[in-house]
Amino acid sequence: MNRPDSLPQTTHRLAARMAAIEPFHVVALVTRAKALEAQGRNIVNMVIGEPDFPTPEPIVRAAAHALQTGQVRYTPSLGTPALREALSAWYHTRYGVQVPAERIAVTTGSSGALLLTTGVLLSPGDQVLTADPSYPANRHFVRAMEGESVGIPVDASTDYQLTAELVERHWTPRTIAVMVASPANPTGTLLPFDELARIHAAVRRRRGVLIVDEIYHGLTYGGAVRSALELGDDIFVINSFSKYFCMTGWRVGWAVLPADYVGDVEKLAQNLYISNPELSMQAALAAFHPDTLAQCERNRAAYQAQRDFLLPELRRLGFEIPVTPQGAFYVYANCARLTGESYAFCLDLLERAGVAVAPGIDFGTHRAAEHVRFSYPKPIPVLAEGVRRIRDYLQQRGHS
Ligand SMILES: Cc1ncc(COP(=O)(O)O)c(C=O)c1O
Repeated sequence: MNRPDSLPQTTHRLAARMAAIEPFHVVALVTRAKALEAQGRNIVNMVIGEPDFPTPEPIVRAAAHALQTGQVRYTPSLGTPALREALSAWYHTRYGVQVPAERIAVTTGSSGALLLTTGVLLSPGDQVLTADPSYPANRHFVRAMEGESVGIPVDASTDYQLTAELVERHWTPRTIAVMVASPANPTGTLLPFDELARIHAAVRRRRGVLIVDEIYHGLTYGGAVRSALELGDDIFVINSFSKYFCMTGWRVGWAVLPADYVGDVEKLAQNLYISNPELSMQAALAAFHPDTLAQCERNRAAYQAQRDFLLPELRRLGFEIPVTPQGAFYVYANCARLTGESYAFCLDLLERAGVAVAPGIDFGTHRAAEHVRFSYPKPIPVLAEGVRRIRDYLQQRGHS
C-alpha cells in the first residue's frame, strides 16, 4: 500500500502570463493596516481609492425594493434594457451627446468593461500604449489577454497625460490601441479635450483603437468636462457607478462601444460571467434621480474642500506636487526630498506613524520610487490628523 508520503507531489501548473501579473502593492499595506487596527492602533487610511460617503439613499431604497420583489435573476448579458436606456438618456442630458442604448454594455464595474474591451481587441503580441504612471490593472488586463502593455513615461510637463506627439513617437507596427484616463488615477489630472482630439486623430490615422476611461467623470473641480464620445463613435468609453455615485461594492459600470463591436462584447460577456448582478443594476437606475445627483454634488464639494486642505499641507511637509490635481480624489506627490524608496517609506510610515498611503510602484515603473499617492476622500479632521502624524514622523527622521 502506498503511504501518503510516497505519493507523487501535486503539480502546481501556472500559466506563463501569471509571471507578469503583479498584485496591487497597496493590498499588502491595507492588510497590514487592518492587522494594526485589530491590535487597537488607529490608522489614518489614505490608501484605498474609494469615496468615504455611503451610497446615496435613493439607490439603497431601489435595491431594497428590488430585493423584496425578487429582482435577483440572470439578465441579458449587456445589462437590463432599462439601465441601458437610462445611461443613454444620461449622455444626452449630461453631455449633450446621442448614444443609442444598443451601444451601451453594462458591466461588472468598469473593471468588467476593461476586461471585455481588451478581450475583444487583443491578439497575442498586440501592443497597447498607456501612460506611466496610470491605473495598475490596465497593464494586467492587457497581459492577461496575451498583449503587451507599453507604459510611456509621463511627467508634470504634460500633466502626467499622454499627448498625440508621445503616441506617434511610441507607435510601432504592433501597436493596436491607446488607453487614456481623464481625470486620471493616480494623478487626478485632466487630458485637455483638444489634446484628446489630437490623440484620437493620430490613433485613427494608424487604424488603431482609442480607449478612454471616464470613471472619474463628475469628480472635477474646475467645471464640467466633455466626454470623448463627442469626438466620434469609434471610441471605447469606459465608465462606472463606483466613484461619483459611491457604489464601489455594487460592481456595476459600463462601456460605450463602437456599434460593430457590440455583438462580440455580448458573446464574450455571456461566456465569461453570464450577466451582471440584477440587484445592482436595479439599484443603479436610481443613480439618475435628482436627489441622488444632489447628494453626489454635495459629495463633490466636500472632496474639493478636502483637496484644498490637503494640497498645501503636503507641500509644506516637503512633498512636491507640481500639477494641482483637477479631478478624481488623489494627490500624486513626489517624495524624493524625503525618501529614496517610496515603498519602504509607505511601509515604515504605516508602522511608525499609523498613516497608510499608496506607493508609486503600484502605478508603473517611471520614477515610481520617488512617488506616493494620497487618496483624500476623508473628513478634514482625519486628513489633519494624518498630516500631523506625517509631520511628527518626518521630524523624528530629521526632516524639518
Ligand atoms: C482609472 C480606473 N479605472 C477603473 C477602475 C476600476 O473601478 P471599478 O471596477 O470599481 O469601476 C479604477 C478603480 O480604482 C480606476 O481608478
